[in-house]
Amino acid sequence: MLSEVLDLTESYSHSQILDGTLGLGGYSEAMLERFPSAKVLGIDRDPEAIKLSCERLKNYGERFTAMCKNFGSLSEIEGLKNFDVLVFDLGVSNMQLSIPSRGFSFNTDGPLDMRMNPNDDSVPTASEVIRNSDSETLAEILRTYGEERYAKIIASAMKRSLSPITTTAGLVALIRETLPQPVQRKMGTHPARRVFQALRIYVNRETEELESLLRSIHDDCESALVIFVSYHSLEDRLIKYAFREWQKEGKGKILTRHPLTPSHEETERNYKARSAKLRAFLMNHN
Ligand SMILES: C[S@@+](CC[C@H](N)C(=O)[O-])C[C@H]1O[C@@H](n2cnc3c(N)ncnc32)[C@H](O)[C@@H]1O
Repeated sequence: MLSEVLDLTESYSHSQILDGTLGLGGYSEAMLERFPSAKVLGIDRDPEAIKLSCERLKNYGERFTAMCKNFGSLSEIEGLKNFDVLVFDLGVSNMQLSIPSRGFSFNTDGPLDMRMNPNDDSVPTASEVIRNSDSETLAEILRTYGEERYAKIIASAMKRSLSPITTTAGLVALIRETLPQPVQRKMGTHPARRVFQALRIYVNRETEELESLLRSIHDDCESALVIFVSYHSLEDRLIKYAFREWQKEGKGKILTRHPLTPSHEETERNYKARSAKLRAFLMNHN
């Protein structure tokens, strides 16, 4: 949804931009190119993303800076009020999905990790979550964050498994063995997709992070264009309701009565984009 983000940004002040989900720096680079007088601060919780994007964007000198941080702690950023654009492209990056050792992908084998910051030992890995949760808790995680219809069956199979589930391939094999063939055929997607999504959201406390981020923007930003691109209904709902509340409180106005969705060309090019929704809010417009 990059071109929609750029077009929106162009219509308002954009001298100080915060890219709250830097990833590989694709959005930041496009902003730096399109708005030659703008400065961009990129933040990401993944130290590898910070390293790779700093390398990619080093030619922009002082116009680009980066910080390894969770956006749930945005209120700690000095001068947050001074940003006139805040952009968040939520979820997991292609880089994270493509490196097997990160454990995000059901298409490649690797350790079942899924932490967006693999250096943070205080966060349990997906494998540890499966090992240390009871069947009911696991089923609840799969239902809430993956809308997985077969949550209960899969959760009990996880707990019945004789050997610990420590790899992505091990988890995929368990799901394939557990769900009847006709069910798998009818799913219309990879049978492990919802389980992987649910574990990733739970491991990284993505809902809590988003809630905390929305509170900080509400409390600390005075005048800014706020743009969110989200990829599942739980996130989109939180954003939609927060924007409605902000508008009711007179903090500004919703710019997207209906969320923007990707063009046909974009979904052809990028499978992940098919579920993207873009919502924008203008704080304290006059
Ligand atoms: C979809 S990718 C962003 C891709 C980016 N727009 C680009 O052009 O490369 C999402 C990024 O957000 C980061 N992320 C997710 N949750 C985060 C959080 N709570 N705090 C900081 N970064 C987060 C992930 O590590 C990932 O790199």
